[in-house]
Amino acid sequence: MIPKVYILDDDLTYAKLLAANLGKAGRFRNEVFDNHQALFDRRSEEPPDAVITDLVMPGFSGIEVTRRLRASDPHLPIFVLTAHGDMETAIEALKAGANEYLTKPVNMDELTTLLQRALDERPLREEVASIQKVRQEEFSVRAILGQHPRIEEARAFVRRVAEIPRPTVLLLGESGTGKNLVARAIHYSSPHSTGRFVEINCSALPSQLLEAELFGYQKGAFTDARESKRGLIEVADGGTLFLDEIGDLSRELQAKLLNFLESRRFRRLGGTDEIEVSQRIITATNRDIEASVRRSEFRADLYYRVSVATHELPPLREIKDDLPLLADHFREVFNREFRKQVSRISPEALKTLQDWDWPGNVRELRNVIERAMIFADDTQLTPTDLPELGSIEIEVEPAEIEAGDTFRIPTGLTLAEAEKEYIRQTLEACGGSVQRAAELLGISRKNLWEKRKKYGLLD
Ligand SMILES: Nc1ncnc2c1ncn2[C@@H]1O[C@H](COP(=O)(O)OP(=O)(O)OP(=O)(O)O)[C@@H](O)[C@H]1O
Ligand SMILES: [Mg+2]
Repeated sequence: MIPKVYILDDDLTYAKLLAANLGKAGRFRNEVFDNHQALFDRRSEEPPDAVITDLVMPGFSGIEVTRRLRASDPHLPIFVLTAHGDMETAIEALKAGANEYLTKPVNMDELTTLLQRALDERPLREEVASIQKVRQEEFSVRAILGQHPRIEEARAFVRRVAEIPRPTVLLLGESGTGKNLVARAIHYSSPHSTGRFVEINCSALPSQLLEAELFGYQKGAFTDARESKRGLIEVADGGTLFLDEIGDLSRELQAKLLNFLESRRFRRLGGTDEIEVSQRIITATNRDIEASVRRSEFRADLYYRVSVATHELPPLREIKDDLPLLADHFREVFNREFRKQVSRISPEALKTLQDWDWPGNVRELRNVIERAMIFADDTQLTPTDLPELGSIEIEVEPAEIEAGDTFRIPTGLTLAEAEKEYIRQTLEACGGSVQRAAELLGISRKNLWEKRKKYGLLD
């Protein structure tokens, strides 16, 4: 199909001239109009593949034409012609949605190339837009499921915070309660998100690597820095920087982060220039961060800085009314993924699920349904399909050990031996909860794991 181009100009002679030129190679079929009404009438009979419109016309401007066309077709190639490079109105045309503006007299080669490119790119643009739309759906407020008042509150919080251009947000809640989900929802439902959503888990990397990831570095800043690299703070400019597990930040990085948050300026490692950025900062932790502040493990000033807007997500055991709805949602998800047709969860299976207290929260529920769906036949999900609850590894909130409890460490040990013994007893007192032990020891889970490995304390 040869693409159809509508040309609108109150100077019909000029429009015809343009049409004749454009039509030469037989690449476009052109129709000319000397007033907008004729164009819109014709369009309702037969929509064009592209429109070229003059900017200044009596009674109706090219900008209004552009706006109207754009409103009904977000991907229609629209080109605006200006008589004498009137920059300001030309820019206004771009804002109204024109692809491009060209100054009269028009360079025909340029117009042909631009037109052809816009027509070729159209399917791709449409695809990108539809993917973006799906992503927005997937990550929007609507992805936060549940009818419990506390989930309603979470959604209301997301909406409120999304309206603010550059908030600092702290999300609290046990593991698996949906902190990542909420962070994404804030980003993807915000009109202020012009940049990317960038996520980093502060407990996943040793402090120095994390610092380099966050702030970036200049070539030569350290031995391995052969190229300069932008840090995630820069990458997230205009968007959202999500610092997950912020409770695991080292003291040193806590200080650096505070500096950055106060000025919204930073330097790359080894860099001299200050870089200024503007973005939404979301932090999250599943720790009792106020307790960390009381134990002086987490800087109070940083805590106040990040907790401007705070929201705590409820554990699943406190919103059990929502369990059937969530379980059913995951049944649908895995139906699709495993190409199954399990039509429901049996009342008995649901009862078993209701009776469990879900220390791993929604994530644990999701994992349980996933496993069950592997075994379920194509009718319904029954208790025998369910894995043994509690068998899927999760971290539980642990034993009642508090800072201040006494351990016995024999004298005569080297410092390393004493450290090993102290770690062993702490782990024991925490009932094996690595999370809690790491908290009490004031080190990251990763660091604790390394120490256990070194001392042969991995069971
Ligand atoms: N209200 C909810 N509606 C739908 N899905 C949910 C909800 N809450 C949690 N989930 C799902 O549960 C899983 C765990 O959620 P998420 O990763 O956001 O938890 P988290 O609080 O960040 O956990 P962690 O502290 O371990 O990082 C994800 O698959 C998420 O999509
Ligand atoms: Mg998380």
